[in-house]
Amino acid sequence: MPFTPNRAFKARPRLLTRSKDMHYYTPEGRPVLDATAGLWCANAGHNRDPIVAAIQAQAAEMDFAPPFQYGHPKAFAVSARIAALAPGDLDHVFLCNSGSEAGDTALKIALAYHATTGNATRTRLIGRERGYHGVGFGGISVGGISPNRKLFGSLLPGIDHLPHTYNREKQAFSKGEPEWGAERADALESLVALHDASTIAAVIVEPMAGSTGAIPAPVGYLKRLREICDKYGILLIFDEVITGFGRLGYAFAAERYGVVPDMITFAKGVTSGAVPMGGVLVRKHIYDAFVKSDDPVIDLFHGYTYSAHPLACAASLATLDLYREEGLFERVREIEPIWADAFHALRSKPGVLDIRTVGLVGAVDFESRSDGVGRRAYEGMERLFHEEGMMVRTAGDTFAVSPPLIVSESQMGEIVDKLGRVLDKIF
Ligand SMILES: Cc1ncc(COP(=O)(O)O)c(C=O)c1O
Repeated sequence: MPFTPNRAFKARPRLLTRSKDMHYYTPEGRPVLDATAGLWCANAGHNRDPIVAAIQAQAAEMDFAPPFQYGHPKAFAVSARIAALAPGDLDHVFLCNSGSEAGDTALKIALAYHATTGNATRTRLIGRERGYHGVGFGGISVGGISPNRKLFGSLLPGIDHLPHTYNREKQAFSKGEPEWGAERADALESLVALHDASTIAAVIVEPMAGSTGAIPAPVGYLKRLREICDKYGILLIFDEVITGFGRLGYAFAAERYGVVPDMITFAKGVTSGAVPMGGVLVRKHIYDAFVKSDDPVIDLFHGYTYSAHPLACAASLATLDLYREEGLFERVREIEPIWADAFHALRSKPGVLDIRTVGLVGAVDFESRSDGVGRRAYEGMERLFHEEGMMVRTAGDTFAVSPPLIVSESQMGEIVDKLGRVLDKIF
């Protein structure tokens, strides 16, 4: 099982067989409130009728079409819809099947872009400590979560990392973006001084570091990164696999922060998790660097058999319709203050060290047990599932929650109550 202690799981499984809207159901029919949108993906809620119908209709009409040298209309339609949601001239899309593939695709596009525009010395890729960009070799190389890297050899050469932006002393119990930390972007100046800009291809960061425990960008941090990248001709990539499609109240967090990166990677919410899909949005100058002649020669030697899979495209079109019709991104902006107030009430619970909220995300850090980091959170996750009927994510001794964007106000209260009761039990 991915990222799972197999024996502990099999000793006490958490099995799911059905889902609808805000809930999963166990094989016994017990409801489980989904406080994590599955795995940060079911932003429209589960098994929404229009998405189910679109997938069924597509499966009946055309199951698969090869994306190399052939195309199908929904691939172009969905790309145009995604590009229309993105800010600035991020108006071309390359489709794949996951966030990991999207990360590796963006890094490869960055290298190839510089190579084809006469800057072949720009090969260095820069990530950030505590970053997560999936599990491909590119993603773990620029990623900054040690257990995801340490057993997997020497990874890609020519990588460096910015410092992470979290400082509990200066940021604890912030609502939204913490005031402290923009200056952490200046570390990019130091990396430029060390390596020289002529060797650096791209910087990749998550606008909110998700997997490490939901760390929002400090006020002004992403703008500062953009300025430094512009100054030195470095491409800026936002990994929006989690933050895309409404999680922070906008189609992309880039809009929330008023920053246009050169590429955005996305996945998860693009289909509300119903069919695997990921992709990379690129700005016009990047597209133009590859697609410049009418000759029948391949523009980019990269792609996946299942890029733009018809079922994924159909699911995505229906999902994007739902987001628009139900105003789900705007809804997150409206409920963010209510959510933040409700979630921060957990501050009074035992052992709580920090609480962070941004958009429709909440994270609570608590004290670790003496027998090791993550054990108390694992016990809490088990108790939440078996005793409270709720699904959460853990990261070390942090509970991270990110419910579907259709969560009601009473369900927000339910999430906080369940977390509170379990925090009482695990201390
Ligand atoms: C920011 C970010 N990038 C990439 C990924 C990888 O996505 P996937 O698991 O679809 O490969 C994730 C997954 O959680 C993510 O949070």
